[in-house]
Amino acid sequence: MAAYDGWAEYYDLLHHGLPGDAAFYVEQALQAGGQTLELGVGTGRIALEMARAGVHLTGIDNSPAMLERCRAKFKAAGSLPGSVKLHEADLLDFNLGRQFDLVAIPYRAFMHLLTPEHQRQCLLRARKHMTDEGAFIMDSWVPRASAIANVIGGPTAEQLKLVGRYPVPQRETSVEHYQASTCDEFRQLITELHLIQEVDEHGTVAHEENLTMVRVWTTPRELEALLELCGFQVRSRYGDFEYGALEPGSSNAIWIAEKARA
Ligand SMILES: C[S@@+](CC[C@H](N)C(=O)[O-])C[C@H]1O[C@@H](n2cnc3c(N)ncnc32)[C@H](O)[C@@H]1O
Repeated sequence: MAAYDGWAEYYDLLHHGLPGDAAFYVEQALQAGGQTLELGVGTGRIALEMARAGVHLTGIDNSPAMLERCRAKFKAAGSLPGSVKLHEADLLDFNLGRQFDLVAIPYRAFMHLLTPEHQRQCLLRARKHMTDEGAFIMDSWVPRASAIANVIGGPTAEQLKLVGRYPVPQRETSVEHYQASTCDEFRQLITELHLIQEVDEHGTVAHEENLTMVRVWTTPRELEALLELCGFQVRSRYGDFEYGALEPGSSNAIWIAEKARA
């Protein structure tokens, strides 16, 4: 079972992306022209916007349940100016046998590659799938010491905190989302424990999921070194999805890279 399978049912309710990220990726795909590859396409949050804007997209993900949601959303959307092709594949060893004008890994999906080896494998796969003039875009959380300290000093696994409550469309229920985080400082890993409870109008829990999400924090300096190691050169870097500078207070980092010239 893939790590995100358990998330699929509630993913769209709980995860709304980062401010401006979908519009940013759509704009970049339109600028790149041609064909786009999204790594970790999930339920198609960004993919659908791309297809609506006329982008021809291929998306890969290793979670059958997330891909099933994505397919259902495209089916419900009907005919769109762009198109989507979905593949179940792992970011570590995918081989689609073709190249793309843009390869993107949005919404911090790169943080799911938990070791330097896995990060390198994914970057090398991404590079192999780029045309010579193609672009690669990734975004990541900026792990400032104070932000990491919040996680380390935050609630322990036993102290789940309510982080959100959402009405479920077309059902007279709401979802309560509880979360706790622990971290492995040496391996730079954050393990989040999530309790998702769907509660009916009488407050009775109708359905409950206990889910775990593990992510690695990697500093901008480490990520830029990794990009270089894997044969990329950075074309531009930003601190938000409105092309603001990456600076000390940024909580997001976005890189647009290309193949390094020999
Ligand atoms: C944070 S979600 C992003 C989904 C979508 N791009 C979005 O913006 O909403 C990360 C996605 O990456 C996928 N993923 C994580 N690790 C993966 C791996 N090793 N191979 C393929 N997909 C992976 C997950 O299944 C999940 O759908």
